[in-house]
Amino acid sequence: MKNKIENLKSEILGKLSEVKDAEALRELEIKILGRKGELAGILKGVAKLADEEKKEAGQLANELKIAIREKFEEAKEVFENSAKKRGFTDATLPGKKITRGHLHPITIVREDLEDFFQSLNFMVLEGPELESDYFCFEALNIPKWHPARDMQDTFYIDPKGLSVQGEEDGQPDLVMRTHTSPMQVRSMLEYGAPLRCVVPGRCFRSEATDVRHEHTFYQLEGLMIDKNINIRHLKGVLVAMARHLYGPETEVRLRPKFYPFVEPGFNGEVTCFLCHGQGCRLCKQTGWLEIFGAGLVHPNVLKAGKIDPEKYTGFAFGFGLNRIVQLKYGIEDIRLFNSGDLRFLEQF
Ligand code: PHE
Repeated sequence: MKNKIENLKSEILGKLSEVKDAEALRELEIKILGRKGELAGILKGVAKLADEEKKEAGQLANELKIAIREKFEEAKEVFENSAKKRGFTDATLPGKKITRGHLHPITIVREDLEDFFQSLNFMVLEGPELESDYFCFEALNIPKWHPARDMQDTFYIDPKGLSVQGEEDGQPDLVMRTHTSPMQVRSMLEYGAPLRCVVPGRCFRSEATDVRHEHTFYQLEGLMIDKNINIRHLKGVLVAMARHLYGPETEVRLRPKFYPFVEPGFNGEVTCFLCHGQGCRLCKQTGWLEIFGAGLVHPNVLKAGKIDPEKYTGFAFGFGLNRIVQLKYGIEDIRLFNSGDLRFLEQF
């Protein structure tokens, strides 16, 4: 076998030195390196050998393969260079298309909203995706025993093996944040009152996924704290945002809804931009699209943020960015966002 390999090598090198043009080179390459070529035949033979022989012969055959490939590449380059030297360019070949990168649809809408809120003097903040149970729930007036915990299917993280700063003793309870609301208390502690911020970010819930539910999604949180903040301020900001997104005719309606961290709490809807409130398939004939949760910050949450609820009040809202983007572009399946499917992504 060893001899066979050596022979093949010199035979190939001989033939290679006789090749005169690119065409002949290509033919020889197929004959030797192709799937049914001579080298493939040798490799098949090696596979049938007894273990001991196989090792040595296999190595030789592989070395041969690499060496021959290199020789072919070299020969190809020689032919190409000589064609170039003769000043030959094939003007009929199609040009190289330079593809431009582009932003993910969620990023496009997130950046647009960041600009919008910055124009209203809101800071844009970011928070941790791996969050403590305290900021995600406790500080937001959702104690461990409270049934409101069940509203958000949570990924609890086993902290074993993770070192968490400041919690060396005692077991830190870690969760993947289920919403961007933990940044309410974090931003209060960092900046105090008065305060205006928005927090876009990725959130996680232990969902059974379908066209409307995804385990990884994006939210945008808003928080404003000052003296005498009331529902009119909340509505004013949300109407401005809705009109920015869906046009100047858009109306906002607030309906009572329970969230432990606001009092009163609302479910926010905007007039359907497709039928302008007449009722259609998109809004399920109601004329309204539900896009956010909102309310006046609960005194317990202000206290957790070391802000005196007797002096200051505030509003907060949060909405799913995915939903806004889905409505804007008419995307039916939320799972497309994280799919990495270029047929989807290249449309934006
Ligand atoms: N965090 C809430 C959710 O994810 C939304 C919300 C934010 C509600 C702020 C009220 C105030 O469902």
